[in-house]
Amino acid sequence: MSLRALFDVPAPAKLNLFLHVVGQRADGYHLLQSVFVLIDWADTLHFERRSDGRLQRHDLGTTLPAEDLTLTAARLLQAESGTALGADLSIEKRVPWAAGLGGGSSDAASTLLALNRLWGLGWSRARLSGLAARLGADVPFFVGGKNAFVEGIGERLTPLAVPRQWFAVVKPVAGLATPEVFKHPALVRDTPAVIISGFLADASKPGFWGENWGRNDLQPPAEDRCPEVAQAAEWLARRFGNSRMTGSGSAVFARNGMDDQPLATWPAEGASLPPGWVGRMCRSLDQHPIADWTG
Ligand code: C5P
Repeated sequence: MSLRALFDVPAPAKLNLFLHVVGQRADGYHLLQSVFVLIDWADTLHFERRSDGRLQRHDLGTTLPAEDLTLTAARLLQAESGTALGADLSIEKRVPWAAGLGGGSSDAASTLLALNRLWGLGWSRARLSGLAARLGADVPFFVGGKNAFVEGIGERLTPLAVPRQWFAVVKPVAGLATPEVFKHPALVRDTPAVIISGFLADASKPGFWGENWGRNDLQPPAEDRCPEVAQAAEWLARRFGNSRMTGSGSAVFARNGMDDQPLATWPAEGASLPPGWVGRMCRSLDQHPIADWTG
C-alpha cells in the first residue's frame, strides 16, 4: 500500500569545505575533489499523491521557474518507473539559490526520495543515484545521504565522518550561474589531485577539521564575475577570522567552532548584514535527515 501524502520533507543545503578542480573531461565537465557537508539550512517540501498521473508544483512563498529541477526529477522517476501515479509538490524555499549551497539539487534529491516512497516503488539508493546523476552533478551527493569526499564530476562519493561544526553562512545580493564560473578563462584546472587514503589519514589528525584545508579553485573566477563574493568573504573574515566560498558561489561561509555551541553568536538572524544579504549560523548534519528512506 502506498501512502497518500508526505508532508514536511526536508531538503538540506551543503557546503564545500574545499573544492579543487583537478582536470577537465573531453565533454567540458570538470573533474573535482571536494568535501561536501550537509548543513541545517533547509527547504521544506510536501507531496500529495494523485491518481490521475499529473505532476503539479505549488510554490509556497518564493515563485520558482516554471520548469525547475524538482519537476524534472519527478517526471524522470515517473517515466523510468512506469507508475501511473502523479503528485502535487509544494515547496517552501528558504535556502538561497545561485549560491553554491546546492538548494535546487537537494530539492531534486528529496523529490526522488519522497516520490519513491509515496508511489511505493521500492527503488534502492543505487538505482535512485543513477537517476540523480542525470539531473545534475550535485544531486547524487544528496541522494547518497552522507557527508562525503567527492570526486569525478560529483558522482564518486566516499562517505566521511565529519565532526559536528558550526558555520556562519552569508549570501550577498548577487547570485552566480555555475556554468559561468566553470568556463572563466582564469580558472585553475590543474590542482594536483590528493590521494584519498592520504587525505583520510590527515583528516584523522587532531585539529584537522578546525583548519581551512585546501581552497576553493572556483573562488577567484567567481570574485572576478561578482565583486560581492569578495565583499562577503571580507565581511566574514573580519568577524570570524576566516572565510571561503562554497561551490560556485555566491555564498561564503566561515568556520565558527566545533561541538555543541558556536564560538561566536550572531544576534537576530541577518540583523547586522548589509541590505539584501541573507545569512545565518548553521550546524553541520551528521547525515541527511531522510537518509533512511531508501536502502
Ligand atoms: O550538473 P550541473 O547542472 O550542476 O552543472 C551545471 C554546469 O556547471 C554544467 O553544465 C557545466 O558547465 C558546469 N560543471 C562543470 N563541471 C562539474 C559540474 C558542473 O563544468 N563538475
